[in-house]
Amino acid sequence: MFPTSLLALLAILLQPSSAQDAPAVGDTTQSLALVFSPPFLPPEVTPQTYPNYTLPPVQPSWQPPADSYNYTLFVFPTTEDTPTSANDTSSQGLRAVNGVVQLASNATDSSLVLRDPIEGWRRQWLVGGLNASTNYTVFTVEDRSQVVTGPVYLLTKNVSFPCTLVHSLPYCPFVSYAVPIPPPSQTDPSQLGTSLTQQTYAADDLPGEYTAILLSSLGNFSITLSSFACGRDVYSPLKTCEDCYDAYRDWACAISFPRCANTDVSALPRAPLPAPALMPRTNMSRNTFPPLDQTYTELLPCIETCTMVDRSCPYFLQFGCPLPGVTAEFSYGVGFIDDAVHGRQGKGVPGAAEEYGYAWCNAGSSYDY
Ligand SMILES: *[C@@H]1O[C@H](CO)[C@@H](O)[C@H](O)[C@H]1NC(C)=O
Ligand SMILES: *[C@@H]1O[C@H](CO)[C@@H](O)[C@H](O)[C@H]1NC(C)=O
Ligand SMILES: *[C@@H]1O[C@H](CO)[C@@H](O)[C@H](O)[C@H]1NC(C)=O
Ligand SMILES: *[C@@H]1O[C@H](CO)[C@@H](O)[C@H](O)[C@H]1NC(C)=O
Ligand SMILES: *[C@@H]1O[C@H](CO)[C@@H](O)[C@H](O)[C@H]1NC(C)=O
Ligand SMILES: *[C@@H]1O[C@H](CO)[C@@H](O)[C@H](O)[C@H]1NC(C)=O
Ligand SMILES: *[C@@H]1O[C@H](CO)[C@@H](O)[C@H](O)[C@H]1NC(C)=O
Ligand SMILES: *[C@@H]1O[C@H](CO)[C@@H](O)[C@H](O)[C@H]1NC(C)=O
Ligand SMILES: *[C@@H]1O[C@H](CO)[C@@H](O)[C@H](O)[C@H]1NC(C)=O
Repeated sequence: MFPTSLLALLAILLQPSSAQDAPAVGDTTQSLALVFSPPFLPPEVTPQTYPNYTLPPVQPSWQPPADSYNYTLFVFPTTEDTPTSANDTSSQGLRAVNGVVQLASNATDSSLVLRDPIEGWRRQWLVGGLNASTNYTVFTVEDRSQVVTGPVYLLTKNVSFPCTLVHSLPYCPFVSYAVPIPPPSQTDPSQLGTSLTQQTYAADDLPGEYTAILLSSLGNFSITLSSFACGRDVYSPLKTCEDCYDAYRDWACAISFPRCANTDVSALPRAPLPAPALMPRTNMSRNTFPPLDQTYTELLPCIETCTMVDRSCPYFLQFGCPLPGVTAEFSYGVGFIDDAVHGRQGKGVPGAAEEYGYAWCNAGSSYDY
């Protein structure tokens, strides 16, 4: 039987809400949030075939569409009076909300990102000036059609939150969350505070020593996988070598970039919802990052980041995951996405990593597990 907490989680997920084209939230700090528009214009991806099967490059370089959709973002503190459904509001209604932050497609600190080629491009905004420990509602409006999508919710962290947002890494498309790294040091004081991106890390300012091992592992994995006759020898009716590479990449990225959790009591989902997969960490250096001079709490990767590799890759790679009920709970969030019956993976109730501003584990991908 499923624990009642999981049934409660399932009940929440079965409510009509954020479908495919909803905006998405990356993560927050005490004053910043990383938010995405609904996806649009997926690039044309040619299926790979033997003998010219090419694995995705470690550093892909996608060309953004010339005529992309334009969205306007609306973020406002959630109160009893604020809209709770796209049907009940309009762009005029959103503009009139008290304390609304409104950002256009051409806003500073916005960019086009491709997290998942199947899904399409998204406009990414870095929203600043938010208040700590506050529940915010997010809607987007497509400029031409004026179609409103949302809401999704986000919760800013409290004032002593120690971690820094990392985003826009071509080699880790789903890393867009707070990571236990000290904030970038400002080298040019005259630039201080002019741009929110300077308070975060993206690919161009993330020091190379933080990512060298990850990039080397991704390259080595790709070489090993290439020894398989991809596209000729079938190892699964459902999975391809590309799926295998993507799953390994998302797992390696989730492990290399730990995600900092919100530990405020008000941020914990109220019973009967299950508690998130949290692990207190000391101020020791993790991986190749410099030590954060503070303790923090990690939101553990969902076990599915690991089992997805197991399921998507050829057997000869011998990728193994820790067993639920034995060791997995020390390093992974278990039971949030697959079912919670120990040892039974790949079946069961579809669950969620995050919803309504809560996060239960670090999914690190957009897979439909
Ligand atoms: C594979 O690539 C080679 C060199 O680019 C080309 O000559 C060959 O026709 C391609 N084969 C297939 C089946 O596409
Ligand atoms: C988005 O805005 C740009 C610049 O204003 C415009 O050229 C383009 O046609 C717009 N795209 C859509 C799909 O509305
Ligand atoms: C919004 O309206 C659409 C179309 O009328 C309907 O299918 C959908 O269920 C409504 N959503 C909500 C949350 O009321
Ligand atoms: C964005 O576009 C609008 C309308 O095209 C223009 O009025 C505004 O000045 C632009 N803002 C920025 C920051 O470029
Ligand atoms: C932050 O809180 C202050 C005081 O309550 C309020 O005036 C302001 O609008 C809030 N800002 C945002 C972005 O929510
Ligand atoms: C990748 O392979 C090279 C050559 O075999 C090896 O020196 C390096 O340590 C490997 N990288 C990792 C992260 O294992
Ligand atoms: C913020 O969260 C931390 C960690 O949970 C907690 O120790 C601290 O007391 C909180 N600070 C405030 C001002 O709420
Ligand atoms: C972090 O660890 C160093 C030694 O490794 C210690 O000197 C420092 O006080 C610690 N800081 C906190 C906030 O625990
Ligand atoms: C934020 O507010 C919404 C709407 O009231 C609520 O459904 C959601 O549970 C809240 N999220 C958090 C993390 O407090």
